[in-house]
Amino acid sequence: MLILTKEDIAVVCSMEDAIEAVKEAFIVHSEGSVKVPLRINIRSDKYNGNMLFMPAYCEKKDAASLKIVSVYPDNKEKNLPSTPAQVLLIDPTTGIVLSIMDGTYITALRTGAASGVAFSVLAKPECKTGALIGTGTQAAMQLEAMIVSKNPKLVKVYSRNKDRLNNFVKNMSTKFKSKAVELVACESADAAVKDADILITATNSDRPLFSVESCKPGLTISAVGSFTRQMQELDTTVLKKASKIYYDDKEAMLEEAGEIIKALENRDIDEKKFSGSLGEALAGKIKLRENDEEIIVFKSVGLGTQDLVTAKQVYDNAISKNIGKYIDIG
Ligand SMILES: NC(=O)c1ccc[n+]([C@@H]2O[C@H](COP(=O)([O-])OP(=O)(O)OC[C@H]3O[C@@H](n4cnc5c(N)ncnc54)[C@H](O)[C@@H]3O)[C@@H](O)[C@H]2O)c1
Repeated sequence: MLILTKEDIAVVCSMEDAIEAVKEAFIVHSEGSVKVPLRINIRSDKYNGNMLFMPAYCEKKDAASLKIVSVYPDNKEKNLPSTPAQVLLIDPTTGIVLSIMDGTYITALRTGAASGVAFSVLAKPECKTGALIGTGTQAAMQLEAMIVSKNPKLVKVYSRNKDRLNNFVKNMSTKFKSKAVELVACESADAAVKDADILITATNSDRPLFSVESCKPGLTISAVGSFTRQMQELDTTVLKKASKIYYDDKEAMLEEAGEIIKALENRDIDEKKFSGSLGEALAGKIKLRENDEEIIVFKSVGLGTQDLVTAKQVYDNAISKNIGKYIDIG
């Protein structure tokens, strides 16, 4: 069994590789050729934790996986991660587990790559200015995907915690020094969004982050954060102004994306706004952006298929580059 740490994954899988893998993931997912049962949640009241199990199997790619993510808020007091995660990659021809890899890294990589895919398909051809709201675990990969997919000259960043915001901008400016992109910290979400051609929201907010007046014509938004009915990053007015809304999976979005559910329930938008999945867009089955004035939203909630296809890509790359540590446990 091959053990792959986050350092190993960083060496073997670039954001460009991940974007290609996630494109394929969206396509196979929209074809319906992946078995992705609903995730299983086992609650531990005794330790105030939830253990989540996310399986996936794609016959076409001869790959299966199981992501285990646990949510243990009290771990912070023990100096342990509050959402530890691993991905197990399984050989479906034998049922043998081939690899265990850092699941937090895989999640951030594939979630960033999903924004990269959305921008490469839906954004205007030329995007000089980007914006990023949220500087948590997902933020670095989101920023990298934005840079890789659209090569903006300026990215404006906002998050609630000023110290973390300034640290993020400083660290990322160093990391992406060679990319000729200027990163600036903004005083408000509206200040970040103003003038942006592409925007990523990666927060756990339960209220709208910015006003519709800040959105310039032609903006493409990748809204990553909300995954429960109570959460909301986008104001209803933004959804109303958008001419098209795409998603990773419609059923999952209607179950989990707070802003979409609320806007539908209040009849502020109807399903005619939904243009289709990114997989259908990539397969050329549905309309894409039609002009440089449209405001377009891509709402993701995250799919087991993305974990599966990304993990397979990482494993294949690791084998060909001879990276990782083997252990034999039968
Ligand atoms: N769509 C997907 O596939 C996917 C994958 C992974 C995580 N997520 C979700 O994305 C969100 C972000 O994930 P993370 O791991 O970076 O979380 P995190 O807790 O590490 O970071 C959250 C960030 O949001 C910021 N924030 C929260 N409310 C805000 C507000 N009102 N205004 C400005 N900033 C605000 C926080 O300051 C912090 O920077 C979470 O809700 C997570 O569940 C989605």
